Amino acid sequence: MKQIVKSIVVFALAISVTNCGDKKETDKYGNAVEENTETTTETSVDPLLAKGQELFEGKGTCTACHKPDAKVVGPSIKEIAKIYKEKEASIAAFINEESKPIVDPSQYDTMKTNFAITKAMTAEERKALEVYMMSFE
Ligand code: HEC
Repeated sequence: MKQIVKSIVVFALAISVTNCGDKKETDKYGNAVEENTETTTETSVDPLLAKGQELFEGKGTCTACHKPDAKVVGPSIKEIAKIYKEKEASIAAFINEESKPIVDPSQYDTMKTNFAITKAMTAEERKALEVYMMSFE
């Protein structure tokens, strides 16, 4: 009898352990999210960064002319970020036509064609694009 009670207890324990595992939250990739302070700091990454990437590749059509490493139609994102850091300039201001080109003024007319899109964006969207581009080094 004692033996049976013991195995019931073990069984119950096993179930509660499994249940506990099932209840764990998962991120969008299906990985378990640990509830400790370490991940809390990780998820506090600037939310504008993800938004900026989305706009850069989507609505902003920026990827058509700007790639991370290589010059295509426009300068690479890295080159732009480098110069904007050196000069402490604002990309958000540039794409709202509030400041002059400092990377490649000779090609400014081509970039200007995209201002129709960026000037129709909200200030927060322009800031998100800035945060995304400035994250390259
Ligand atoms: C039709 C091609 C084209 C598209 C689309 C485009 N760009 Fe550009 N961009 C250029 C060219 C060419 C330059 C180089 C001329 C210049 O420096 O102004 C440039 C330069 C820039 C610069 C540097 C400006 C400076 O100070 O000289 C920034 C910042 C920039 N683009 C951001 C963006 C963002 C953000 C988007 C999307 C919302 C975008 N571009 C979409 C062609 C494009």
